[in-house]
This record gives sequence, C-alpha cells and structure tokens, in this order.
Amino acid sequence: PQRVLSGVQPSGALHLGNYLGALIKFSRLQHEIPTFIFVADLHAITAWQEPALLAAQTREIAAAYLASGLDPKVAAIFPQSQVRAHAELAWIFNCVARLGWLDRMTQFKEKSGKHKERSSVGLYTYPVLQAADILAYKATQVPVGEDQRQHLELTRDIAAKFNHDYDRPGFFPLPEPMTQGPGARIMSLRDGSAKMSKSDPSDYSRINLTDDADAIAQKVRKARTDPEPLPETLDELAKRPEADNLVGIFAALSGRTKADVLAEFAGKGFGTFKPALADLAVASLGPVTAAMRGFMDDPAQIDAILKDGAERASPIAEATLAEVKKIVGFIGA
Ligand code: TYM
Repeated sequence: PQRVLSGVQPSGALHLGNYLGALIKFSRLQHEIPTFIFVADLHAITAWQEPALLAAQTREIAAAYLASGLDPKVAAIFPQSQVRAHAELAWIFNCVARLGWLDRMTQFKEKSGKHKERSSVGLYTYPVLQAADILAYKATQVPVGEDQRQHLELTRDIAAKFNHDYDRPGFFPLPEPMTQGPGARIMSLRDGSAKMSKSDPSDYSRINLTDDADAIAQKVRKARTDPEPLPETLDELAKRPEADNLVGIFAALSGRTKADVLAEFAGKGFGTFKPALADLAVASLGPVTAAMRGFMDDPAQIDAILKDGAERASPIAEATLAEVKKIVGFIGA
C-alpha cells in the first residue's frame, strides 16, 4: 500500500520555499493516497527553542497546513511528540545507522558550522529520527524540497540495512522523495546561490507566509535581478540564477512549467515581469495567509485537531514498532 508522509520543523517562520517545496503538495496528495503530515517538534529542539515560542510555532505550522488545504478529516495532522513510536523507533535505528553515514550529512555540517563540539547530539542523529518518522508508517512517498534528498537516501539505507540484517526482505519499503516541479528549490530573493531559508538574517531574502500583501509586493520588487530581459530558452535562463529563481517561483505558484512561463515573458524585462509576479504572489498567498490567521485565532481548535490526528496516526506507528521489536528479539512485543 502507498502512504505519503512529510513534516515541517516549527523552528521559525514558514516561507515561500516551505510552501512551494512541501505544503502545496500535501493537499494535492491527500485525496489520492493516505497522508500523514506532522509538525516536527522533536526535530526542532535539536537547536535551542524558547518553550513558549516552540508551542506557538507548532500551532502556526498546523495552521499553515490547514490553510494550505489539508483536511484533518482526510489527512492525519499531528505533532511528532504526540506519537511516541517516532522516538522509540529512532533509538533502534540509531543502532542500525553507521557513524560513517551520518558523518557525510551535509545539513549537519552546515548547521553545526565551526562549533561541532557544541552542537547537540540530537542534531547529529537528526536524520535517524527522520528515518523513523517515515518508516514508522512504512511511507512510500515523501513530498519534500531538494534539500531533503540526502536525508531520504539515508532513510533508504537504514530501511535496506534493517531488512537485510534481520533477513526480512521488503519489510520496510524504500521511500521515494517527491521533489518534482519548479518549487523544489526556491532560492533567496537576495542571492540566487543561497536557498531561501528561515535562518537567513535578511527578511528581504524570503517571503514569509505571515507577510501581508504590501510586504510581499515590496519584497518581489526589491528582489535581486540582472538588467537583461528574460531569455527564450531554459538553458540561457539556467545561467542567470536570480532570474531563474523568479521564473521558477512564478511557475510553481501558477502550476505551470518554467518553459511555459518563458514562452509568455521572453524578451520582456523585469519592469514587466516583477509586477506580474508580485500580483500572482499576492493573489495566491493572500488567501492562505488570511486562512492561517483565522486558524491561529483559535488555538484550542488547533490543539483538538492535532490531538485527533495523533490518535489516528499512533496505532499505525505502534503496529510497526511492535513488529520491529519482535523482529529485533525484544520479548513481550
Ligand atoms: P524544514 O522544516 O527545514 O522544511 C520543511 C519543508 O520545506 C522544504 N524547503 C524548501 N523547499 C524548496 N525551497 C526551499 N528554499 C526550501 N526550504 C525548505 C524542505 O525540503 C521540507 O520539505 N528535516 C525536515 C523535516 C522532517 C521531515 C521528516 C520531512 C522531519 N522528519 C520526515 C519529511 C519526512 C526539515 O527540516 O524540513
């Protein structure tokens, strides 16, 4: 059986990259395949989170899920920490994954920076917990942005090694990342070589899901570009990272391909393209932002939705965990 699973960390404001790389896909998939979408609060505390802020941001992510069209009666929406099996399975996977595999993880290198010895141990084993998130549901498809590909490969390595070591071919499926489409790698609006991220100090580098129409329009207007008109071909576009990024955003927001967008705008300058992009961004994000605010006005409702989602997700994850414990040789499972 197919299952979709994904999650977002409540570690800062959601931005356009999260929306186009991940959220927008969740609501499209939920009607086709059983879908599990969680708020990765266990992952968030691998870096320090102010407790009150963590709680608020957890609800904000849930509000964004709902605002982007996830239906809590269709998909299971829940906080990772409310389904114990994630953390318990992660321990077992810590004993499957090899140090050499984790040593290669580029995200750890980026996030730990120059102070590796001061990073939490959790930050290091972060991808192992991610594998547990996915494999607890035997998920087959994982809609994520490009930056999560390496973590998905590690998940596949863990699944394959578990299946092999315990001689259970096919017990865990090898999940596929879903990174198709122009939204999978949205870059900073200030620098076409850096990805749009929560941690960029410049707020002008990203469009936040909480930005109002004026802020969105202004950020698009101020986005870095070159002076040339838009080219005819994707090859030429690929040589101009900032232009490529804006065309990609336009394509992802409108559900079109970059080639299709170029066909409309080739030969036109940014004086024409940017206002069109700003209008499109405001028209598509405005309703999401407004809906998100509406949900955030009722935290009790969000908490009830998350609790219900956890109650639906738990039996599935628990069943996998029970099988795993038995396979491993733990008695009483
Ligand atoms: P996180 O919280 O950093 O990001 C959430 C999702 O947004 C995508 N994303 C982007 N997509 C396109 N362009 C960008 N600039 C951009 N920035 C972020 C991410 O790829 C992600 O899909 N480790 C995950 C959370 C996680 C998870 C999981 C995901 C934990 N367990 C299990 C899938 C399955 C993360 O840190 O995402």
